[in-house]
Amino acid sequence: MYTTLKNVLAEASQLTMAVGAFNTHNLEMTQAIIKAASNQKTPVIIQTSEGTAQYVGMKTLVAVVSSLAKEFGVNVVLHLDHAKNWDIIREAVDAGYTSVMFDGSSLPFKDNILGTKRVVEYAHAAGVSVEAELGTVGGTEDGIVVNPDAVRLTEPEDAAEFIDKTNIDALAVAIGTNHGQYKSKTNINFDVLDSIHAAVEAPLVIHGGTGVSDDDIHHVINSGIRKFNVGTELLVNWNRKSKELYGINKENTSNRNNVVPALEIVQEIVEHKISLFKNID
Ligand code: 13P
Repeated sequence: MYTTLKNVLAEASQLTMAVGAFNTHNLEMTQAIIKAASNQKTPVIIQTSEGTAQYVGMKTLVAVVSSLAKEFGVNVVLHLDHAKNWDIIREAVDAGYTSVMFDGSSLPFKDNILGTKRVVEYAHAAGVSVEAELGTVGGTEDGIVVNPDAVRLTEPEDAAEFIDKTNIDALAVAIGTNHGQYKSKTNINFDVLDSIHAAVEAPLVIHGGTGVSDDDIHHVINSGIRKFNVGTELLVNWNRKSKELYGINKENTSNRNNVVPALEIVQEIVEHKISLFKNID
């Protein structure tokens, strides 16, 4: 079923698990991610940056994702990741996305509340869920680099006030992960995460999931993470494999020869991540 973030995260909270949110870059990757979720019998969140949404086309993404959800018999959310632009958010809601993230994390606290509230009013009226972010996650996302000095971990008291005033469906927290980090392991501040979890009831979201170790995945889910974002690991492996094959295969053979093995790797990684996200004791 094509469904909302609110629905899949309510189920994840009941079952103490996280739902995987995977950044797609094209329609082929989208299909591989949904196939993986279907094999693992779990819901999944397909997320697009503003750039990918504009490249593929929002209406096309809505049509394809809702059709694949039906075909593979799995609950799928289509989510707009890190949107800052009100016109793009409104376009996604109108096009049929089932979830949007308003990223006001670089704004002063009150401005973040005001911007988030405006998105919540518009999105909720259309039955669309909203994620917002408090604190600043480091690293690089869709070409935008966050200066290490600008990284700020989420304050637990601010989180409680923010959720109370905005009525969001999920809160992205800054707890030491970085977007785009591939080679090294992430250092997570579990004390901060535990204090946020104790202060709020809303489902929590981890950004910069690439680089989080298997043990830490387990730990953060036990501390309230219900949406787990993974982007870079899929992109790096897709690019690596297809680059190798484009270099080997003749130009007059089908493009499938370069793309399908790269998709198989994406599917494998997604299945492995999902198995870690759901098997929490
Ligand atoms: P990574 O690319 O570091 O896995 O982060 C993905 C993400 O958080 C998307 O918002």
